[in-house]
Formats: sequence, C-alpha cells, structure tokens
Amino acid sequence: MDEKQQVVDALKLALPEMTEDDLADKVERPKDNKNGDYAFPTFFLAKTLHKAPQAIAQELVEKIDQANFEKVVVAGPYINFYLNKAKVGAEILKAILADPENYGSKDLGHYGNVTIDYSSPNIAKPMSMGHLRSTMIGESIGRILEKENYRVVRIDYLGDWGTQFGKLMAAYKMWGNEEDVKKDPINTLLNYYVRINTEADEHPEYTEAGRDWFAKLEHGDKEAWRLWKWFREISLERFQRVYDMLDVHFDSFHGEAFSAQKMEEPIQLLRDKNLLKLSRGAQIVDLDKYNLVPPLIIKSNGTTTYITRDLATALFRKRMYGHVKSLYVVGAEQENYYKQLKAVLKEMGFSWWDQLEHISFGLMSFGGKKMSTRKGNVVSLEDVLNDSVKLAREQITQKNPSLKNPEEVAKMVGIGAVVFHDLKNDRRNSVDFRLEDVVKFEGETGPYVQYARARAMSILRKENNPSFDDVDLSQVGVAAWPVLKQLGKFGETIQRAAENYDPSIVAKYALALAKDFNQYYAHTRILVDDEGKLARLALVQAVAEVLKSALALLGVKAPDEM
Ligand code: ARG
Repeated sequence: MDEKQQVVDALKLALPEMTEDDLADKVERPKDNKNGDYAFPTFFLAKTLHKAPQAIAQELVEKIDQANFEKVVVAGPYINFYLNKAKVGAEILKAILADPENYGSKDLGHYGNVTIDYSSPNIAKPMSMGHLRSTMIGESIGRILEKENYRVVRIDYLGDWGTQFGKLMAAYKMWGNEEDVKKDPINTLLNYYVRINTEADEHPEYTEAGRDWFAKLEHGDKEAWRLWKWFREISLERFQRVYDMLDVHFDSFHGEAFSAQKMEEPIQLLRDKNLLKLSRGAQIVDLDKYNLVPPLIIKSNGTTTYITRDLATALFRKRMYGHVKSLYVVGAEQENYYKQLKAVLKEMGFSWWDQLEHISFGLMSFGGKKMSTRKGNVVSLEDVLNDSVKLAREQITQKNPSLKNPEEVAKMVGIGAVVFHDLKNDRRNSVDFRLEDVVKFEGETGPYVQYARARAMSILRKENNPSFDDVDLSQVGVAAWPVLKQLGKFGETIQRAAENYDPSIVAKYALALAKDFNQYYAHTRILVDDEGKLARLALVQAVAEVLKSALALLGVKAPDEM
C-alpha cells in the first residue's frame, strides 16, 4: 500500500472539497525526517478560508483520523505526519510477499500501445556502441512501460536500404568472394564498401556502377535482390548473437527497405497539401516557421531519401499499431532530424505528430576515446560483452570457488555489468567505458546490486527458505525502517522512470536499496532466535524480490548465488 495514499486518505476527511489528486500534489516529503515522513502545507488555503495558515493547520489536525499514524502534529503552517512504522512496514512486506511479480506496477497505460524503435543498426556494417546504447535503453524503457500496463511493440528498424547498397553490390561483383563473406560477413562486407569508396575518387566508373546496382535493386532485378537478401540475412544473424546475449527480442524487423515500398502515400499527401517546394531540382518541405533546415524529400535524380522512408514508416506504424506513443531511441546527434520529422507530419495535418518522441542519449567513449567506424577504431560489441564475461568469471571463481554453475553466473554478471553501467546515468549524459570500472563488486555497479541480492538469497537458504504465511510482520523492528521505506518507494520510482523514459531512475533506486540493505545487514543480527526473526527474514525475502524486479526492468539478470 502506498504510504502517501494514507496521508491523502487522512486529509480527505478534513478537506472534502479537494480532490485526491490535488491533495496528493500538495503533500510533501520533509527534507529532515525530524519533521515527519510527510508534511501538508496550509499556505495555499489562507486566501480562500480567510485565515492564517497556522490557524488552518490547527483546525485541520483536529479533524484528521490519526489512527494510522504514530502521530500527527502541527508545526507552524505545516501538518506533519509521522507514519506508524510497524504498521506501514508490515503492510509493505505483506504486499511484496503476496505478489512479488507485480509489486510496484500500476495501470498508467490502460493497455495503450507504444512502439519503440530501438537498436536499428545498419546492415553490412558493424553495430556501433551507439547501437548498443540504443538497444539497452530501448529494451529497458519497454520493460518499464510494460510494468505500467502499456503494450509495447519492439521494432528493429534495420538500415537496409539506400544508395550505399548499390555501391556494396558493385564492390562485391568486382572483388567479392562468397567464402570470405561467409567466414566474417560484416567485416568483409565493410572492407568492400570502404575499398569502393576510397577508390571511387580515381575510378568514377565505380560510382556509376553503384548507382546502376541501386537502380536495379529498386526495379526488382533478380540478382540485385538476391544479394540484398543475402547481405541482410547474414548481417541479421550477427546482430542476433548480440541480441541473444542481451536477451532482447523484437516484434518486428521491418526496416527501411520495407518502408521504401510504401513511398507513394506520403509523397501524394505532401503534394495534395502543396507542401513540396522545388529547390535546385529537388523537392523539399519548407520548415522556416519552425526554424528548421528544410528536409529533402525527393532528390533531383528522382530517388527518395531517409526522411521520406521515415514518413512512410510513421504512417504505417500509426495504422498498424494505433499507438498512443511512438518512441525513437537514437543518439543526441539526430535531434534536429526528429524535429524535422515531427514538423513535416504536423504540416501534413496528422494530429498525432506529437506522439512521436525522440528518446535521445549521449555518446559512449572508450577510456576517453571516441569511436569512429571510418577511422577503423571500432570496438566490437560482441568482444566487449565477451571480455566482460571473462573478467566476471575470474572474479567469481576467486570469490566463490565452490559455485556450481560459474559459467552461467559469469554471463549474468559480465553482461549485466555492461548493461547496468550503460543505464545507471541519465541517458542524455555521455558515458565512458572502462571494463575494470564496470565489472566491480563495489561502488555503483551492477555486480554490487547482484551481490547484495545473492547475499539475501544465501541468508534465506540457510534457513531453508521459510514460509511467512502467519508471521507478525510488524515485529520486524525499527532498524529495518530505512530498508522498508526504500521498498515502499518502488512503485513511485517505476512511475517516474516511465514518465521520463529514463531507466537510470530505476538503476539508482536499485543501488540505493542494495546499499540500505547492506547497511542493515552489517548492523543487525538477522538470524538471532527471538520473536522478530521470521519478520526479519520476510524483509530479506522482500529485498531479494524487489532487487530482482528492479534489475529485470533494466534487462539485468540476478543470480541466486555468486
Ligand atoms: N539506422 C539508424 C542509425 O544507425 C537509426 C534508425 C533510427 N530509426 C528511425 N526510424 N530513423 O543511425
């Protein structure tokens, strides 16, 4: 049960003319808990009631049912509420243990559909660290929104169309070798692509050949399609390996190529609305009134562009999924592009243009160095994950040599560490990645949270996983209060994370709960035989459940032992 709701309920009787929502807006959490767990300021009532706030507070407090609180006192213009800790604590524990899976979830979404476009790498190229960020942020937002009862549609909008594929085909036809491609698809294809681009300066006919091959592709030439399909398939196979490691599963892989077949509609609509302007032979949309650069819709040679495909995509998604929100998890450098996309949809007259939202994130660097595909200093995602698993394995075997399934645990810890590191800061910030900092059992890391939970699980194992059916949970003791309070905040934490599309809110919560629990564990003898023992074990169980749920919302697994 929500603690704040108890305060709202108590006030409702004293102020029947106010709605619950308005009351909830006014209730504060005092900075110093000497002033209670919640406070209700009365200043805002002074005008309507023609009384001094102090007098109002005095009168209100008389009308408040104090049964659920330790005490309710007037402090100047404030009414301070002190929760009945034993009672509130017992209620929190009861709620968690009764339905651990659903604890903290709310129905914000009423089953509204949300599409999330994330990961979305370009085929025949290595996935960049930016794609890794997009993958994890998108996946976590999806899980958070599901917890709030949205229906999430996970879309991997593959970059599988565009003139670059013409070039790639031309290059493959000149220098390609099927065996080489099969051995190491993405790097081999990338090499062909880089080679044709560098040599095109001296051989203008290469550019010509690339254009021809793309035209063939657009016109359904058999060989062009065979190659395109093959490149796409082998790229996707590679991407899938990373998705499997991260436990990410998409509902759709409709990428740019799919939308490229649906161009007539947006173009016709733009024409009908007189939005296409001729500019040096190309067709653009004027976005002066938005202070935006005009996007190119149709190039002078008649081909369409990236944004035209995205317009077709947006129309398709709205029709297909009837979304209430449509999220695009893409790096901050694309900010203006999404402004253009939304502005064009608005100009086209679609009232849902502002359901589209760019979920932006900062760059990732490696030990302070930026990555660049062009310069060749690419860090392979698969390598990063594998290195992390290796480091985790070393540390685990040192810490716990008798572990039964070290391989499995090393995967959970190693991959979880990378994911947690990526998600723990506000997504808009850039992050630096140093493996040694990421796979650490101390500090603000994933393994730290996983370890706190594993410790809780080991306490429960020692007691043969007791049942808590008839336990008087109010016996848990005051030392548990900081942990209980943290447990009670899980629901509002998820809600905030959902409203801000920000997984870091959940990550920070998990860290805080792990820390509170470790502190409690350091100062309390949990297994001492007294009347509070089972209630304390119930607390341990509740912590284990909530830490597991919080990690799951980030896409991080929680080993029972490590
Ligand atoms: N493929 C793009 C990239 O690698 C990201 C696509 C984002 N989604 C979209 N609908 N434009 O940068």
